[in-house]
Amino acid sequence: MNAFPALLAEIALIQDLRSAAALLDWDHQTYMPRNAAEDRASQLASLASVIHERETAPGYAKHLEAAEKEVADFPPDSLERCLVRVLKRNFEKESRVPASLVRELAETSANAHHAWAEARETSDFSLFAPFLERLLDLARRYAALFAPYRNICDPLLDNYEEGLTAQHLDPLFSGLQEKLVPLLRKIAASPQPDDSFLRENFDPAGQLRFSAEVLARMGYDFTRGRQDLSVHPFTASFGLNDVRITTRVQPDAPLSSLLSSVHEGGHALYELGIDKKLNRTPLANGASLGFHESQSRLWENLVARSLPFWECFFPRFREIFPGPLADADTAAVYRAINKVTPSLIRTEADEVTYNLHVMLRYEMEKELLNGTLSVKDAPDAWNRKSMEYLGIEPGKDSLGILQDIHWSMGSFGYFPTYALGTLLSAQIWQTAEKELGPLDADLRAGNFAPLLDFLRSRLHVHGAMFTPQETLRRVCGVTEIDPACFLGYLEKKYSALYGF
Ligand code: CO
Repeated sequence: MNAFPALLAEIALIQDLRSAAALLDWDHQTYMPRNAAEDRASQLASLASVIHERETAPGYAKHLEAAEKEVADFPPDSLERCLVRVLKRNFEKESRVPASLVRELAETSANAHHAWAEARETSDFSLFAPFLERLLDLARRYAALFAPYRNICDPLLDNYEEGLTAQHLDPLFSGLQEKLVPLLRKIAASPQPDDSFLRENFDPAGQLRFSAEVLARMGYDFTRGRQDLSVHPFTASFGLNDVRITTRVQPDAPLSSLLSSVHEGGHALYELGIDKKLNRTPLANGASLGFHESQSRLWENLVARSLPFWECFFPRFREIFPGPLADADTAAVYRAINKVTPSLIRTEADEVTYNLHVMLRYEMEKELLNGTLSVKDAPDAWNRKSMEYLGIEPGKDSLGILQDIHWSMGSFGYFPTYALGTLLSAQIWQTAEKELGPLDADLRAGNFAPLLDFLRSRLHVHGAMFTPQETLRRVCGVTEIDPACFLGYLEKKYSALYGF
């Protein structure tokens, strides 16, 4: 047996190159001087093409085949078999994509990122439009390599959530919408909590200090990670011992920065909990983006938007901000952080309207990719849909179509995983409470260890060894995402909060 160990060495090298690219990208979004953008774009493109070359080399295919034979008798859930399965799947996908398209995608998205940031800053969609046009064209050319499909979105969805198709997703989303809209109506008809005390001046340094304390209590290891500032909060992993997060801070929105920190912290805890044996392999990753998002959403919503969490952390929150919080109490913060109000920005949306933001962008993507909507008409279409889904219209494109980074990265088909993650988070929480008992007392005591241990042993440790469906079976004992779990959680929480 020697093909498998040699394969491990080769993929470790590829994984190192990926980590290097991720670090360049992290720097790009945090500290890089503005005028370095062009050089950085070619550096990233060069790395992407080297990675692609190695992954699709003819020698690599033979090598993979020999390694597969060597481990054929290993148990199906062994690292060896799981790794070969994932490598084969990746190879089959990657090898359909010509190197020229890979390079073009990397280069265009690096330049588009800059154009998007500027367009968002000045709320001028026309600066980003030509890039969006090119990125859509590249996405269509990419999808065409995987024909036949029922919907042009399918090959793109599959990149983020293995096996996901529009056919599967569309009824799930319409079912959700059917239940969310009446709930939203009931909430809108009830008296709204007062959250004006949270729009005072909260010193950014204090906000970052508070977030760091919460992150440390959650179990985020600052010796294997750090937090910095960026336009759009994200998590970046450079191997299993360096998983960094970013946030953005506004003086008049202290909960937004806290929730984004906890959200990214949830992503980071997932990666940091992966079995070290999987380091420097493609298995050192989440089971899917949906599962990744289930972890960020679980910490953000079920933990940091819960009453026990605030019973634990409010005294410290007020200690850091005695001025703005002089007349506030735990219950007031709990009500304010769960205020349901249709807003324009997805990342700052409440739990009830969040999925409507996701559905909006998914519908836009389907129409843009299928060519039933032109880029020129996209901002107006966005505003119309915003009215239809959320009942409000953005006054400017920076609050509408330009708000999210994903399209500038060429990431079409990514958004639905946000909604899947939200649904999964409720399902995983229910399983955790079934096994550990109610978690309220632990949360109130700031003791997140039992929850984190459950998540680690059941989900994190396995990394990307299993398909999303098999992962769900291992975590929750079922094979289908059940939206009833999330909807039941919302109904219970918000009927109590809003008194209906
Ligand atoms: Co996330």
